[in-house]
Amino acid sequence: MDRFITPKLTEEDKIGDTGIRPRLISEYVGQEKTKEKLNIFMKAAKMRGESLDHVLLYGPPGLGKTTLSHIIAEEMNVDIKITSGPAIERPGDLAAILTSLKEHDVLFIDEIHRLSRQVEEVLYPAMEDFAIDIVLGKGPGARSVRLELPHFTLVGATTRAGQLTAPLRDRFGVICKLDLYNVEELSGIIRRSAEVFHVPMGEDAVVELAMRSRGTPRIVNRLLRRVRDYAMVKADGYVTRDIAKQALDLLEIDPLGLDAVDRKVLSCIVENFDGGPVGLDTLAASTGEEASTIEDVYEPYLMQIGFINRTPRGRMITNKGRAHLGYELVITGDQLYFDSLDGGDIE
Ligand SMILES: Nc1ncnc2c1ncn2[C@@H]1O[C@H](COP(=O)(O)OP(=O)(O)OP(=O)(O)O)[C@@H](O)[C@H]1O
Ligand SMILES: [Mg+2]
Repeated sequence: MDRFITPKLTEEDKIGDTGIRPRLISEYVGQEKTKEKLNIFMKAAKMRGESLDHVLLYGPPGLGKTTLSHIIAEEMNVDIKITSGPAIERPGDLAAILTSLKEHDVLFIDEIHRLSRQVEEVLYPAMEDFAIDIVLGKGPGARSVRLELPHFTLVGATTRAGQLTAPLRDRFGVICKLDLYNVEELSGIIRRSAEVFHVPMGEDAVVELAMRSRGTPRIVNRLLRRVRDYAMVKADGYVTRDIAKQALDLLEIDPLGLDAVDRKVLSCIVENFDGGPVGLDTLAASTGEEASTIEDVYEPYLMQIGFINRTPRGRMITNKGRAHLGYELVITGDQLYFDSLDGGDIE
């Protein structure tokens, strides 16, 4: 199902991205630890006149990994080449990319966990020794030639650091985990984007939007575009808190940013599995969503707001999560149970 609040990149995002994507690290909001690390290592590399060490960025979709890789290239004053794990099919494809790089350039590989084994083997010596071995000829006469590469910086991005092989992970000198953004940081991004888009809006409208954006800059920017449309058509263009609320209600995004799919996942845990624990695959099968989508997209936010817990035996809904769905916690004497507000009891 296509969700409006998908953190995945859509065509409209790509077009809208060009103006609002921060170009310098000083314009990049939040992720203070990552910025501090990068600032220090970039500065040191520049002082020594060397290329920046290889950087691995990981975290849920839409948090700014691609943006950060562009910023690294910009701050280091070098060019960037962009590709992705699934796009590099054979070792020869990677060799062609590597040999086209210039000294200190950035090579950005998105979804780096999806590189094939054979391609990865080529990447190891490239990252470590800045060289690749090319086999010339076939059979007994074949010989291997070592080809020197320019000193480049590999920036790898992944939503699943756990799926990287250990030898690949170990070859990154800088590893940064991106976290979901808090309301204050999201508000900062909204103010910046609103200025770029020329959308006049009240401060309480900014907060309203931030609260419904699931900690994700990509979603913040998308909601802002829709709210702007709504304000233009239904009002005079100025975004008040009421206008923002009405627009978001129309999009069926609730006050915490949850949509129908999130609520389906939550109520499935309550209604089919007694609140859990339920295994990821079972939950995926009974909601009709992909296990990987639940894990990468829904779960991080539902955990951040304290609606579900991950235990060794599976996912469990919390009391807070139940309350949000409308189940009321009732305590009578030594009994504790949940009462669904629309009738039937849930034990
Ligand atoms: N820290 C930030 N400050 C301001 N804007 C940001 C920040 N991070 C991301 N954005 C904005 O959010 C959008 C999504 O960012 P980006 O494309 O870099 O995400 P991503 O992590 O690469 O996602 P994916 O995993 O889907 O590739 C961009 O339009 C960018 O302008
Ligand atoms: Mg990206």
